[in-house]
Amino acid sequence: MIKKYNINIFKYIFFILVSITFSQPANSDLSSEELIKGRKAIFSKNYSTAKKVQTFASQGDFERAKSLMLEMSENYKNLLEYFPDNSKEGFKTEALPAIWENKDEFNNLMTKSSNDMIKLTKIIETSDDIKGSLGKMMWANCKACHSKFRALH
Ligand code: HEC
Repeated sequence: MIKKYNINIFKYIFFILVSITFSQPANSDLSSEELIKGRKAIFSKNYSTAKKVQTFASQGDFERAKSLMLEMSENYKNLLEYFPDNSKEGFKTEALPAIWENKDEFNNLMTKSSNDMIKLTKIIETSDDIKGSLGKMMWANCKACHSKFRALH
C-alpha cells in the first residue's frame, strides 16, 4: 500500500515539474541583464524608427513609411516577452512595478500599440492630416504607456 502511494506522489511531482518547465515563457531563459538591456535597445530602436516614419510620411514617401511601421509593430509584439518576473530591477531599468501589478493592462497597451501601427499603414496614404494621424496612432501610445509604466527620466 505504502509503496503504491509513494509512486503516485512521485508521478504527481514529476508531472508538476514538467508542467512548470514547459509553461515558462521562452525569454525566462534570458538573464535579467539580457532582458533589460534587450528591451531598452528595442525601445530606442523604435524611437529612431518612429522619427523616420514621421519624416518619410510627411515627405509623401509612403512605401518607406509603411515598411517601418510594420517593423515597429513587430518590435512591440516582441517586447511582450521582455518583461518576465526576473526582470523587475537592476541595470538602470526605468520599468515601474506597476507593470507587474497590472500585467494585463500593460500587455494590452503594447498589443494596441502594435495593432495601431498596422492600422496606420492602411490609412496614412489617404489621411488628410498625416501629422494628426501619427500623433494619435503612434506618439499617443508612447505617452499613454510611459505615463504609467516608465519612471520619470
Ligand atoms: C506599452 C508600453 C510602452 C509603449 C507603447 C512604449 N514604451 Fe517606451 N518604454 C516603456 C518602458 C516600460 C520603458 C522602460 C524600459 C526599461 O528601462 O527597462 C521604456 C523605455 C523607452 C526608452 C528608453 C530606452 C533606454 O535606452 O533606456 C525610449 C527611448 C522609449 N521607451 C521610447 C518609446 C517611444 C518613442 C514609443 C512610441 C513610439 C514608446 N517608447 C512606446 C514602455 C512603453
